[in-house]
Amino acid sequence: MMPIDTIQKKDFPDLVKYLEKCWREQVEKRGTGAVSPLGLNRPIKDIIDEQLPEGSQSLNDICVQIERLVIPYSVQTSHPLFLAYVTPPALDICVLGEAISSMLNQNVSFVNLSPIGTAIEEVVIKWMGSIIGYGATSCGGVLVTGGSVANQLALAVARRSILGQEVTKKGNYVEMKHQRVYCSEHIHRSVYKAAALIGIGTENVSPVPANHRHQINVEDLQRQIDKDKSENKIPTTIIGAAGTRAIGAFDDLEALSKIAKDNQLWLHVDAAFGGALRLSWLAPNSLQYLGYADSVTFDPHKLLFVPFDAGCLLVQDKQRLLDTFGSEGEYLERSDPPGRDIADFGMDLGRSLKALKIWLAMKYIGAKAYGREITRLLKLARQFESLIKSTSEFETLIDGESIIVCFRWKGEAKSTDEELNNINGQIPLHLRRKGLAFINPVSINNKIGLRACLSNFRTDKQHLEELLDYIRECVES
Ligand SMILES: Cc1ncc(COP(=O)(O)O)c(C=O)c1O
Repeated sequence: MMPIDTIQKKDFPDLVKYLEKCWREQVEKRGTGAVSPLGLNRPIKDIIDEQLPEGSQSLNDICVQIERLVIPYSVQTSHPLFLAYVTPPALDICVLGEAISSMLNQNVSFVNLSPIGTAIEEVVIKWMGSIIGYGATSCGGVLVTGGSVANQLALAVARRSILGQEVTKKGNYVEMKHQRVYCSEHIHRSVYKAAALIGIGTENVSPVPANHRHQINVEDLQRQIDKDKSENKIPTTIIGAAGTRAIGAFDDLEALSKIAKDNQLWLHVDAAFGGALRLSWLAPNSLQYLGYADSVTFDPHKLLFVPFDAGCLLVQDKQRLLDTFGSEGEYLERSDPPGRDIADFGMDLGRSLKALKIWLAMKYIGAKAYGREITRLLKLARQFESLIKSTSEFETLIDGESIIVCFRWKGEAKSTDEELNNINGQIPLHLRRKGLAFINPVSINNKIGLRACLSNFRTDKQHLEELLDYIRECVES
């Protein structure tokens, strides 16, 4: 049996060559072929199921498995017709960032463990703060896996900020009153998960009805807050959406910020993908007030084209994070001056240099080119809506404001909504089975339709024309 490092040294030249070969092949073939894996005649978990390897396998055998299993059976998120969720293709520069981050294996929990890692994360947080409209230097934040975790941390920060230190020590049962969190009925479901996890309880998340534009109805919001106060409940937080999960609607952030101020509540905004639209001159109006929020969820793995995972919670006042997550431990050597250790800004202790790939992406692309691409995607979304409206067999389900287009096949003949729901509900699966396109189903006002997220810098109008043709063929077959 060879020692680990002897095996590594022997294989190193082949490893580097193999990495380069894989990377080149990916770059050459991306955008072509099937979007989703084809030709699977038995469940993939059966193909890959193996016992725990006792001995070491050769690099060659492992590479064969990568080539036969991992690459061909991966969904091609970089394909121009991968339009499901806001999952854009990743930038090549980030592959370099990921490789170097693994190579250096920095633990960025404490300044003294990774002074450079801490500094890079601080810079990246500052840049993202400026994108979402936090001007002050007191803004802070923490990188996390994604929007769901950012929303969870935000609820904890909001609770600590509004209810004070007592809640940290005694938990949620201060005076046995119920805390209340308000959000739109269209908020991302991670908010409910977060409320369950941190003990607020899903029943204390109060979904406020939305208007026809899918925005929180602000009069209903104020009424609900007043009612809860009169019943001795404790309103703590309003969660606004800058880009709702289904259709990409924007709440009236100016109005929400006023209600939060008047009622001394915390305002959190989920801008997981919507925040980046501020880089474009075509950004929806409401986004000019995003910086009024006390905290904001913003995902670089969405419209900054950084690969998974890269999420972020930003807060206007960095001290709020320290109050919520700062901890002490006798073996931990802390930053001097205090308040810079990343471990004190969130839940993670050991943490990778996640910021490197974001830092490289933002330097390499620059705010102007990001803005141009996001503008192109916003225009493409409106063009796609016009294209849909110009046909006789398709209709839009809503006039969008962002990069999400919701539509459905309605056919030429008169069909009932139930029949159309059935047909449209099956289209995404049919397209995926044939490897033609990857889109989501969506339900709007009881109509089931299709949802295309135009977040891919390789998608253009011609691809969207092809998509409509594929859907026509799929319905006719
Ligand atoms: C508005 C919104 N919030 C939160 C999330 C969750 O983000 P993540 O998948 O990064 O956890 C999403 C993801 O699609 C989203 O669209």
